[in-house]
Amino acid sequence: MTEHLPPDPALELVAQSLTHYAECHGDPYDAVYAALYASDHAYEGLFVLDTDEGLRRNMMRTTLEIITTYLTDRTAAANSIIGARMSHIPYGIDDDFDVFFNITRDVICSGCRDIWTPAHGAAWSTMLSDFKAARL
Ligand code: HEM
Repeated sequence: MTEHLPPDPALELVAQSLTHYAECHGDPYDAVYAALYASDHAYEGLFVLDTDEGLRRNMMRTTLEIITTYLTDRTAAANSIIGARMSHIPYGIDDDFDVFFNITRDVICSGCRDIWTPAHGAAWSTMLSDFKAARL
């Protein structure tokens, strides 16, 4: 039997911000990578062989999928993060891994200024802390 849990207001705020961003701005891909390179130009050099941007689009898509998975299944989201975290070790991305999630939050936040409240920020912070804790 499926267990019906009451809606979690914090998760609804994360979902609302993603929907609002998509409605107002579409895909966050360009803004997220611009912010990533602005945070440290060395990141751009990691993708020099990604000439068709396929890897970077896959990274963005996976990041958004993990966030939407978290809205309904935190364990599945944590498992995906653990796998992706480990696959980045050969690229030299270890402590930096969570930077991409943080930048995604910053971009969604700035695109949702008109609806953003402290509760949205708190909901994203809780989720990003769970992501940071997802490791073997
Ligand atoms: C600042 C943080 C991060 C950096 C600098 C980074 C960097 C990279 C690099 C350089 C590659 C490609 C390596 C290659 O040439 O094969 C890659 C692949 C990938 N990254 Fe990240 N990554 C970061 C965070 C993340 C996060 C948070 C996720 C989401 C879980 C993610 C998901 C992926 C995926 C799915 C691929 C494989 C893409 C493919 O093979 O099509 N990355 N990442």
